[in-house]
Amino acid sequence: MRDLFERIHENKGPLGKWASQAEGYFVFPKLEGPISNRMKFKGKEVITWSVNDYLGLANQPEVRKVDAEAAAEYGSAYPMGARMMSGHTDLHEQLENELAEFVDKEAAYLLNFGYQGILSTVDTLVGKDDVIVYDVDAHACIVDGVRLHIGKRFTYKHNDVTSLEKNLQRATKLADQTGGGILVISEGVFGMRGEQGRLKEIVALKKKYNFRFLVDDAHGFGTLGESGKGAGNEQGVQDQIDVYFATFAKSMASTGAFVAGDKEIVDYLKYNMRSQMFAKSLQMQLVKGALKRLDMFRTRPEFKIKLWENVNALQNGLKESGFDIGTTQSCVTPVYLKGSIPEAMALVKDLRENFGIFCSIVVYPVIPKGLILLRLIPTATHTIKDIKITLKAFSGIREKLENGTYKRLSEVIMRGVQK
Ligand SMILES: Cc1ncc(COP(=O)(O)O)c(C=O)c1O
Repeated sequence: MRDLFERIHENKGPLGKWASQAEGYFVFPKLEGPISNRMKFKGKEVITWSVNDYLGLANQPEVRKVDAEAAAEYGSAYPMGARMMSGHTDLHEQLENELAEFVDKEAAYLLNFGYQGILSTVDTLVGKDDVIVYDVDAHACIVDGVRLHIGKRFTYKHNDVTSLEKNLQRATKLADQTGGGILVISEGVFGMRGEQGRLKEIVALKKKYNFRFLVDDAHGFGTLGESGKGAGNEQGVQDQIDVYFATFAKSMASTGAFVAGDKEIVDYLKYNMRSQMFAKSLQMQLVKGALKRLDMFRTRPEFKIKLWENVNALQNGLKESGFDIGTTQSCVTPVYLKGSIPEAMALVKDLRENFGIFCSIVVYPVIPKGLILLRLIPTATHTIKDIKITLKAFSGIREKLENGTYKRLSEVIMRGVQK
């Protein structure tokens, strides 16, 4: 036998192998200053397109005031213990009631983090005889939840209702044999490419197949539907979503999450969800902060209006300039370009250093080889000036990509990124 760490020594993983060239710049970059449309990267101001503070609540003075007052009143410890044991309070309950009402469900349950929360929700909803059918492009937290399932699971092609139906037929056959049920999982908005999950078509299949539907609406909550009630509300099918999940990590600009549905199901989750039963309760600063943010969703439509003005200006501007922004139906704005990974690195470096634009970059294996995805997240804090500068910069980098500038520069990059 060999030492366990030998494997790690030999193979750092698909991303880890790039660490020496990429760390501190392409991965683990340090954005400094208050969260907003303009932040600092390596001491220079950049227009920030990579922060999911959709509504710009992160630094709204009245939100910050509530956060600060709650921190002063409760510190960061209170309440201690898991909800079930000693970490329950009136304010946790109030937040759950308000969230449930907001997303038109009977009940809601708070989760400490979105990732563990939905993973554990999937784990809790299914037993060994049940079958899961989920979108192949589902977020890692859904995939990890499915990994915990000891029964059968099928993926369907991304947002492809015909493929979903084929897999529902397989799942139905299997569930008939095991005596189990079926859980279908989609996202409300797919965070990488921005398409909305085809929730309307998926719930229409309930007429033909017997399944329950779980939706992860991380990017839809706050940005879509009336007052930001999410993708289910936007598509008019919220009542057909059996279990609705959203995180506080995006439009709410905070930490935490919740799951909502019929009271009986939420009660079952409360008494059986291991990630919450065996973990400390959400701290009060986050609970009070979430109550304030939810109130902003309900009473301050101007943030969502401004967000969508910016989304439309950016997406229309990109399309008019001939960029391929794929099939987004949300604020998430992908820009697809053709090029290799080293070219992508040179291009992003140029964008940051010379054009003052900071956005996320996605390459193979997340998207097909030879494609570069620059992912822009517009927020309510961006200005039309930011958008104009960005559109100009994008035309600039496209020209350089096409005339081979980045191919030449990429050779320098590969010799080591300037830190
Ligand atoms: C679709 C989706 N689900 C869940 C999560 C996890 O949420 P959190 O950051 O609250 O753990 C994310 C965050 O990236 C997400 O995009």
